[in-house]
Amino acid sequence: MDQTRRDLLEAGWTVGGGLLIAAAGWTSFVALKPLASAGGGGVLPLLEPDAYPEGSATFVRQGRLFITRTGGELHAISQKCPHLGCAVPFCESSGQFECPCHGSVFNAAGEWISGPSPRGMDRHPLQVTDGRLLVNTAVLEEGAPLGSRKFDGRARGPRCTTEPAD
Ligand code: FES
Repeated sequence: MDQTRRDLLEAGWTVGGGLLIAAAGWTSFVALKPLASAGGGGVLPLLEPDAYPEGSATFVRQGRLFITRTGGELHAISQKCPHLGCAVPFCESSGQFECPCHGSVFNAAGEWISGPSPRGMDRHPLQVTDGRLLVNTAVLEEGAPLGSRKFDGRARGPRCTTEPAD
């Protein structure tokens, strides 16, 4: 009887542990997998322009893009890394985009700062109609070439990813 109970508990722990490992693996896969494409839908209506304050980065899930405002200008930046397509998150503490796959870093305007990316992050056109911001996810403009930065490239605080060793 005791043996059966012990066997049952061991089986439960084995199954539970396996499920935890599978869940962790799936979460990592979803976070890091290359995106097949950028948004690629159509025109998405957003909020009024003033809803995006200086220094902010708002993720628009439907378009897989971020709306940022830096240097007083609004930007619609594709989440897909120009290097090998990983989903790039925005790091609130540094105020930069930091790719978790190979370490490319971009400023809040999507301009390249460091890492293996061949250019800045790709962008979608924005327009204001009837006081609302519209982003055209069907059009993807190639990111700025390396070394053509127009906006500030300094981090405003600590990075979310590990800084490369000097
Ligand atoms: S996929 Fe982003 S740096 Fe490689």
